This record gives sequence, structure tokens and C-alpha cells, in this order.
Amino acid sequence: MSRFSLSIAAAVAALLCGVIFVTTFERPPVLSSQGGFRGLSMGDVQNPRTIPARLAANQVPEAPEAAETDGPKAHETYENVQVLRDLSAAQFNRLMIVMTEWIAPNQGCGYCHNVENMASDEVYTKVVARRMLQMTHKINSEWATHVGQTGVTCYTCHRGNAVPTMVWSTEPNSRAGLQAPRGQNHPASSVGESSLPSDPFTPFLLGDAEIRNISTTSLPGRNSQSIMTTEWTYGLMMHISTSLGVNCTHCHNSRSFAEWRTQSPPAQTTAWYGIRMVRDINMSYIEPLKPLWAQNPNGPAEGPHGPRLGAMGDALKVNCATCHQGVNRPLNGAPMLRDFPELKQVNQGPLRSADATPR
Ligand code: HEC
Ligand code: HEC
Ligand code: HEC
Ligand code: HEC
Repeated sequence: MSRFSLSIAAAVAALLCGVIFVTTFERPPVLSSQGGFRGLSMGDVQNPRTIPARLAANQVPEAPEAAETDGPKAHETYENVQVLRDLSAAQFNRLMIVMTEWIAPNQGCGYCHNVENMASDEVYTKVVARRMLQMTHKINSEWATHVGQTGVTCYTCHRGNAVPTMVWSTEPNSRAGLQAPRGQNHPASSVGESSLPSDPFTPFLLGDAEIRNISTTSLPGRNSQSIMTTEWTYGLMMHISTSLGVNCTHCHNSRSFAEWRTQSPPAQTTAWYGIRMVRDINMSYIEPLKPLWAQNPNGPAEGPHGPRLGAMGDALKVNCATCHQGVNRPLNGAPMLRDFPELKQVNQGPLRSADATPR
């Protein structure tokens, strides 16, 4: 080979290396912060260039002025009020206005209502919204172990979209045996672009498979964990880290991932409750609403149109990203519940079956 073509080959190789380097490594500087005990290297490493974009993507719209709490109650004023019965009529109307902004800002009231007859339940989204009100109330009242006093509103998940942008559904084959693809060996965004199985959600956030893979015994026959549950565990952990924009050491002392009760910061306990809360959301609320989406697989007539079900015909469900969207406190920690006392007064009783005729 001539000297000339050798040097061209070298130049091409150098160029390729340069491209690979530039596109696969993050350019300095990096910001690191310390958590946990001194000397344990626990904490976060952040890229300061991505912080402004994440902060900007997590702003909260301004709340409308508070409503009068006295005067006639909503269930006295209107015909078919089941869950917001005890609000004043003024509070009720204020909530309808913000719900429209949070869920369907372009469609307006008609997205959930037959505007000729507001009391009718014929538009399925109204029936879904009633259950979502009960779900939001339960998250705030019974999962304070996770959401604290900060709380959540519809906006925490929906952000102006009828279907939240960050949702998941069961992948075909994800429950199959080791030989099946299970989404493995293809980098997937659901698991931080790693080649781990891309659906760790079905076993852990819909089912309650145990998220443990470090054996506490060396005796044979006592370890119920397998390579599959280990891969799912790491897949879920990659999802948790990317959803919150933190490293593994935000929650773990990496000298022993299993020793978390004694060696981890409070964030890990919050995360533990978060996993249980997400299971409750998916199993008690989202999946049971599936028949309504099955009847309206592309959304209501008013739009926006798009799939309401996943590839396996299941509902689109919640994971850590649905609320967190890249930050460790959703919406940068804004106190969501403070401006919406209406969301604290939701009747949890059974709902009347949906039909077009109001009471
Ligand atoms: C995201 C869905 C949704 C949107 C958007 C929405 N509503 Fe509602 N609306 C509901 C639900 C759910 C109920 C029933 C509440 C209950 O049972 O406690 C309801 C009930 C009502 C009622 C009571 C009707 C009756 O007589 O029983 C009125 C009035 C009303 N909404 C007005 C509005 C107005 C005005 C808008 C637009 C500014 C609007 N709604 C937007 C979900 C929605
Ligand atoms: C924890 C996250 C979460 C919260 C909080 C939440 N939702 Fe939802 N909501 C979802 C998910 C996920 C779906 C999509 C399910 C599907 O399409 O299969 C959904 C769907 C809906 C739909 C149906 C949309 C359509 O076009 O089919 C309505 C209406 C709705 N939510 C209203 C509300 C209201 C009103 C609130 C607040 C009271 C609320 N949601 C709070 C997660 C949430
Ligand atoms: C936001 C907190 C948080 C982050 C970040 C996090 N984890 Fe976890 N991790 C947990 C919790 C909580 C559990 C226990 C889950 C349970 O029991 O339900 C756990 C469990 C584990 C386990 C199982 C340990 C055992 O007992 O067998 C491993 C391994 C693990 N994590 C590795 C990782 C890795 C690797 C990363 C980074 C890619 C990571 N974690 C990021 C919270 C976190
Ligand atoms: C329904 C919305 C919602 C979902 C879904 C959700 N979180 Fe959270 N999370 C919150 C809110 C709100 C806070 C802030 C609580 C506070 O300010 O006290 C929070 C706080 C946290 C914190 C504490 C922040 C810190 O750095 O100390 C951790 C850790 C966390 N969440 C992990 C998770 C994990 C892991 C998942 C998925 C299994 C998850 N969250 C799913 C709403 C949610």
C-alpha cells in the first residue's frame, strides 16, 4: 500500500474515532454533589448543560384565584355530581376550568362533555376523569409517604395532554422465556439506552415481583432469584435513575446495593414507597379503566386522536417518568396541592354505573 493511501486510511480512522468520541462521551465540565456519609462517594454527577432545559421543562402554570367556599354545594346546584359533591359551586367551576387547562386546553369542555347536556355521562372521558379524581385524591391522602405535603394534581402527569407523554405498556414477549427476545440486546430508552430487557415494568410496576437479586445465603436451593429477575431489576434501576436525573449513588451505597436499610439516604425509602404507590395506581385505577379505552381506542370524537392502548391491548400505564420527567422532585418541587383545596374533597364512594341518562 502506498504511503499516501496509508495516510488517508489513518486520517479516516482518526476522524471516525473523533466522531465516536464526541458522540458517546459527555464533554466536561461536570457538577458533582455529595450525599450520604463522608468518603463514601455517594451523590450525583450532573451535566450543567442539561440542567436549564430540565428546569424549563418542569414549570407549573399559574393557579387561578381561590374560589369562595360558601354558598350552595355542587350536588345541590347540578344534576349528576358524584365525587365533587361537597365543593361549593364556585370551587366546582374553578376546578372544571383548571382541569380543562391541565388535560385538554385545545378541546375545551367538550372534550369530556356533551355541551348540550353537561350532566350526561355519554362521553367516556368524563367517566375516566371521575375515577382520575378519586385516584389523585388517594395519591395525596394515602401515599404521603411518597408525595409528602407537595402532592400531585392532574398536571403532574398530564401537562396539558389528554394522554400523559411518559407512559408504558406491556411489550409483546416480555413475559416469555429466556430465549425469547424480551427487547434485549437492543438499546432501549426505557432502560437508559442499555441493552437490558426493555420492559421491567410489567413484572415490577404492574405485578409485585420481588425486586431483590442479591442472595442472603450461599446454601443451594434457597435462592429464588434468577438471571431474568436480575436483569429486570437492573433495567428498572436504570429507568429510576434516568427518570429522576440522578445516579445510582443518589440512593445506594454501591459497596452493597442490598444493604439499603442501614446505609442509604432517605431518598431510597421514598423510592421504595414510590414503587408501591405506582403499583397501586396501575392495578387499582388505570388497568380497571381499560374497557372504556377498548371502546374508544383512538380517543373521543373531539380528539386529540391517538392510541389509548398498548400493543398487547393493555392500558397506557404510569412509571416513575410519568411524574418525574427528569427531575428528582416533579415540577422542581413546586407545592402542587397548595392551590387546589378542591382536590382534597373528593368522595371516594362507589360510582354509579356510567350511562347516558343522568339521575
Ligand atoms: C377532563 C374532563 C372534564 C373537562 C375538560 C370538563 N369537565 Fe365538567 N365534569 C367532569 C366530571 C368528571 C364531572 C362530574 C363530577 C362529579 O361527578 O363529581 C363534570 C361535571 C360538570 C358539571 C355538572 C353537570 C351536572 O349537572 O351534573 C358542569 C356544570 C361542568 N362539569 C362544567 C364544565 C365546564 C364549564 C367545563 C369547561 C370549562 C368542563 N366542565 C370541563 C369532567 C370534565
Ligand atoms: C399518576 C398519573 C396521573 C394523574 C395524577 C392523572 N392522570 Fe389522567 N391519565 C393517566 C394515564 C397514564 C392515562 C392514559 C391511559 C390510557 O390512555 O390508556 C390517563 C388518561 C386520562 C384521561 C383519558 C384521556 C383520553 O383521551 O382517553 C382523562 C380524561 C384523564 N386522564 C383525566 C385526569 C384528571 C381530570 C386528573 C386529575 C384529577 C388526572 N387525569 C390525573 C395518568 C394520570
Ligand atoms: C431513587 C432511588 C434509587 C436509585 C437512583 C437506584 N435505586 Fe436501586 N433500589 C432502590 C430501591 C427502593 C430498591 C428496593 C426495591 C424494593 O425492594 O422494592 C432498590 C434495589 C436495588 C437492587 C436489588 C438489591 C437486592 O436487595 O437484591 C439493586 C441491585 C439495585 N437497586 C441497583 C441499582 C443500580 C445499579 C442503580 C443505578 C443504575 C440503582 N439501583 C439506582 C432505589 C434506587
Ligand atoms: C404520581 C406522581 C409520582 C410518581 C408516579 C412517582 N413519584 Fe417520586 N415523587 C413525587 C413527588 C410529588 C415527590 C416530592 C415529594 C416531596 O416534596 O416531599 C417525589 C419525590 C421522590 C423522591 C425524593 C426526592 C429525593 O431526591 O429525595 C424519590 C427518590 C422519588 N420520588 C422516587 C420515585 C420513584 C423511584 C418512582 C417510580 C417507582 C416515583 N418516584 C414515581 C411524585 C411521584
